[in-house]
Amino acid sequence: MKHIQIAPSILSADFSHLADEISALKSADTIHLDIMDGHYVPNLSFGYPIVRCIRKLTDKPLDAHLMVTNPETYIEPLAKIGIQWISFHQDTVFHSHRLVHQIKSFGIKAGVALNPGTPVNTLGAILPDLDFVLVMSVNPGYSAQKFIPNAIDKVHELNAARDRDALNFLIEVDGGVTGETAEFLRAGGADILVSASYIFSSDDYSKTIEILRGN
Ligand code: DX5
Ligand code: ZN
Repeated sequence: MKHIQIAPSILSADFSHLADEISALKSADTIHLDIMDGHYVPNLSFGYPIVRCIRKLTDKPLDAHLMVTNPETYIEPLAKIGIQWISFHQDTVFHSHRLVHQIKSFGIKAGVALNPGTPVNTLGAILPDLDFVLVMSVNPGYSAQKFIPNAIDKVHELNAARDRDALNFLIEVDGGVTGETAEFLRAGGADILVSASYIFSSDDYSKTIEILRGN
């Protein structure tokens, strides 16, 4: 059986005890960083100073999810900090192909995020260049929102396109992921599950991560 990667989003972590929170995520595969600019989404989260601190707190790969209107200006600073994965929202750029290759030029995995209202077929020509697709199962901006089920259909559609065209991108799903929704996402072919509130509201993060993996 394939290993389902779990990427806890620290958006729901207790930032006054960030070191403890991060060290409690030992069984996570990557750490998901929700970077919001208060413009593309109606919320602000954190920027480079916090990302730099997180980089010092863990050796795990860091996965930056850019919810910003000008993602191209974030790539080099994040590369310098030592990020391993970056996704940007498809509707924030004119030249997605250029940005994907800019990200890859730093040796960083490149992904495009799809909002709940954006269909999979808008990715067509860029799919072969992507390391991953980030399927949003909530509208970006906040944690602890309700899962929007059309994400499951998108996961199926992406999985079918990947098989049909022998592509290698991974499918990451973000928003409202719980023990219940994770089951459908795993069955549909998702590879990486992001979760904030479900993990951080639990008593035992490792146990919750195993539930999300289906173990
Ligand atoms: C939403 C963020 C998500 C969010 C997930 O804009 O991209 O990563 O933190 O939170 P939960 O898992 O609570 O839905
Ligand atoms: Zn996210």
